[in-house]
Amino acid sequence: MQNFPLPRIDSDEELQKLLLPYCRLKKGDLWIDPTGKHKIGCLDAGNASEINQLMNGESASLAVQDPPYNFVAFEEMEEKRFVDWCENWIKNSFNSLSENSSLYVWLGADQKNHLQPLPDFIIMMQNSGFHSRSFITMRNQRGYGTQKNWMSVRQELLYYIKGNPVFNVNAEYTDIPKILKGYYKLVAGEVMENSERSKSEFIRAGNVWVDIQQVFYRMEENVNGCYAQKPLKAIERIINASSDQNDIVLDLFSHSGTTLLAAEINNRRCYTSDLNPVFCEITLRRLENYRSNRKTGWQNSNPFAKEILEDKKLKEYLDSCLDLNSNNH
Ligand SMILES: C[S@@+](CC[C@H](N)C(=O)[O-])C[C@H]1O[C@@H](n2cnc3c(N)ncnc32)[C@H](O)[C@@H]1O
Repeated sequence: MQNFPLPRIDSDEELQKLLLPYCRLKKGDLWIDPTGKHKIGCLDAGNASEINQLMNGESASLAVQDPPYNFVAFEEMEEKRFVDWCENWIKNSFNSLSENSSLYVWLGADQKNHLQPLPDFIIMMQNSGFHSRSFITMRNQRGYGTQKNWMSVRQELLYYIKGNPVFNVNAEYTDIPKILKGYYKLVAGEVMENSERSKSEFIRAGNVWVDIQQVFYRMEENVNGCYAQKPLKAIERIINASSDQNDIVLDLFSHSGTTLLAAEINNRRCYTSDLNPVFCEITLRRLENYRSNRKTGWQNSNPFAKEILEDKKLKEYLDSCLDLNSNNH
């Protein structure tokens, strides 16, 4: 049986311990792609000398950062400490980016706590050297909230620039479908729907994205065990708009390796890091799996399926998680 569902890896220390022997990168290690395209570092995003080691004098033209902003992970960490920590990796991003470059940051906004950390983060960015450019909203399918509030279905994505970077959405229309009718206006005495002026079924590149499917277990790109995987389509859109072929894309919080895979598919180079050796291994396996099978993830399986079959202890542990799960239902 290959389709062992992995529990959420980041919050399961026992599982991480059992997976560690299969991780090729230990803390401080750097994997350099034999084809010369990508790098994966088991590094701390906030540590300047470690990120300098990753860049080794080169500059990226785009950074896509997705820090662990979820409130479970930061339950203990008050906003001030979170934003101070953000300041470190923002500095490292700034120093790793070329004169004309872009930065995208995925961030959360806690409805129950003054929409933090978004507002404090935005204020911190005023002295970062970056200029604000847009505030993108991506619509999620699944939401959270009670029946006494609007269900929260948005993902906030901040877009900043340094200098005067490329913006390649000059094809005018994205692949975002039209979902609303245009307003009406008189053209040569005739009442016309505004949308008739453009026959395209798509809309111009805007900062509300409603066409991206949130990753779930039935999608090919799903990486079982990764709790915070971003959809490939969102990262591909960012990469195509804000970098050119062969440019370096930086992602200091790799996790399931979505940015690296999007870079591989779209002929960019990706330098990425994660503090956790298990997520570095998953990133590397995701690239290898794509290169050998053209698969973007492990639908109905997981990155460690082979080891689970061969490692008795690992299998027993996962079986016990399954038992626990079924007893709880
Ligand atoms: C929200 S996830 C990123 C998801 C990613 N965009 C994807 O699509 O899979 C955040 C990741 O940051 C990593 N992380 C947390 N603190 C870090 C640090 N100081 N330096 C590098 N990585 C860190 C976590 O291990 C986790 O894998």
